[in-house]
Amino acid sequence: MGGKLGLLFLLAWVVVASGTGVSLPIKAVNLGGWLVVEGWMTHLFHGVDMGYALMDGTRVTLWSARQGMFLSAVGGGGSDVAANQGEAKDWETLRLWRMKDSEDMFMIRVHDGQFVDLDNNGGLVAIQTSPGHAGEFQIVRNAGLARIKAPNGRFLQVKTGGVVTADGDATSGSWSDSDPSVFTMKITGQMDGDAQLCSFYGAEKTVSILQDHWNTFITEEDFRFISSNGLNAVRIPVAWWITKTDDTSSCHPPNYPGYQAMLDRAFQWAEKYNLGVIVDLHAAPWSQNGQSHSASRDGTVGWGDQNIDETVRVIEGLAARYAAKKSLLGIGLLNEPSEQVHIDTLKKYYKAGYNAVRNQVKRDDVYVIMEGRLAGGGDSEMADFARQFRNCVLDVHFYNLYGDMFNAGRMSAEQNIRYVTTHQADHLKSLIRANGALVFIGEWTAEWKVGGASREENQTFVDAQLDVYGQATFGWAFWTYSNPKDPYWSLKSLIKDGNITVPQN
Ligand SMILES: *[C@@H]1O[C@H](CO)[C@@H](O)[C@H](O)[C@H]1NC(C)=O
Ligand SMILES: *[C@@H]1O[C@H](CO)[C@@H](O)[C@H](O)[C@H]1NC(C)=O
Repeated sequence: MGGKLGLLFLLAWVVVASGTGVSLPIKAVNLGGWLVVEGWMTHLFHGVDMGYALMDGTRVTLWSARQGMFLSAVGGGGSDVAANQGEAKDWETLRLWRMKDSEDMFMIRVHDGQFVDLDNNGGLVAIQTSPGHAGEFQIVRNAGLARIKAPNGRFLQVKTGGVVTADGDATSGSWSDSDPSVFTMKITGQMDGDAQLCSFYGAEKTVSILQDHWNTFITEEDFRFISSNGLNAVRIPVAWWITKTDDTSSCHPPNYPGYQAMLDRAFQWAEKYNLGVIVDLHAAPWSQNGQSHSASRDGTVGWGDQNIDETVRVIEGLAARYAAKKSLLGIGLLNEPSEQVHIDTLKKYYKAGYNAVRNQVKRDDVYVIMEGRLAGGGDSEMADFARQFRNCVLDVHFYNLYGDMFNAGRMSAEQNIRYVTTHQADHLKSLIRANGALVFIGEWTAEWKVGGASREENQTFVDAQLDVYGQATFGWAFWTYSNPKDPYWSLKSLIKDGNITVPQN
């Protein structure tokens, strides 16, 4: 950009952004783990034995000693469930949905998404695609063993050839290996987001755990701290049920009394300390990325065309509620959509979400933020699309963490730093299009995978990122403000310990 032109753009930004009292570029911090449960929030799960608890999304294998085989959906789903697999690593595993207010009743979901049920002859099948019609199974445990009672009240048992039928004696008490109704059950995976917390503790206890957490994890003092350390905005991840107002608590779908009031309070504090607020939809109905932090129930990506209207209503509700708040700086339509989300679905939703915000918020200083899919080319795909919208921001996340190339030992400290100053810097430049969306590095962190890095190397890594991301036309947001488990993810610790100084304008 030429010098004069650059100056003009700069002036235009300052004028445009003056309503919020916040001028670009944004130097923000994510208030991660505050209003959406994240995997690293182990303190919330302290009562949960992850090696034994059965919750939403728990992955299990069931092995029949009698048959010497694992139980799994033939072909991954769509027909019989049989005990005929010699190993169970991935598609052969089963995912649980814990039934409301029950410790031992579950729906069982197979790899291709179907739910396990009985056919008319009592045979075990995985053909049901709607949870509303799925079978509910009781899992009776005895240490590492399990017997499974089917919806007809009989135990599942394995027959010759691995056929599984629900005709075991309901009163048999045998736990012997030779019993065809006895399985060895192993937990091979757990998730740890909102859905799991609620499925383990139940709605009422979850609400009280979360209300405590909301009131203590981030306080007014933190907003003051953020503002007095050179930052000018916060990005606040929220879940889609934030706009639900009935006050009965339930897990499925979650509905937490007092949840929206927290965001209201964040706006009050932001106003008091002159911070802009970006509200970011981190969890959409049925999950846009299958991660715990999108409140996924079982790791599948279920958000799609059928959820667009509902999700737009959430955005519309947020926009309407905060339209008159001076500190409203932006609304992030969707955090980290998976590559499994169809691009046409995403574009359709972004267009509708954009219009919903514009209809509610008649100000030029509120931005609509769009993020590309987590896929190769996802950022530039979205940079092209976002050009058509005024006051639009492209959200890009930079981590030297995910993907094989970053695995411990693969890249030296120097190579990591060069990756930031060359690869990421070029990528960022390529996304800044004439008359296009502003670019926002909405997440980055000080954590990397260089074993035994020195203090100096860690510092150089952070400085390189501040330098490169400082060139993003909208600004950046560190992930995250507070992380009790790891100070390299915690801007609060990094600032307090003097490891990061936010550059002043
Ligand atoms: C450098 O950062 C890593 C985390 O990315 C951390 O494990 C390591 O201890 C740090 N080195 C020093 C000397 O603080
Ligand atoms: C911050 O710097 C201190 C020394 O000033 C060092 O001991 C500590 O490991 C650093 N922490 C991080 C998170 O880099």
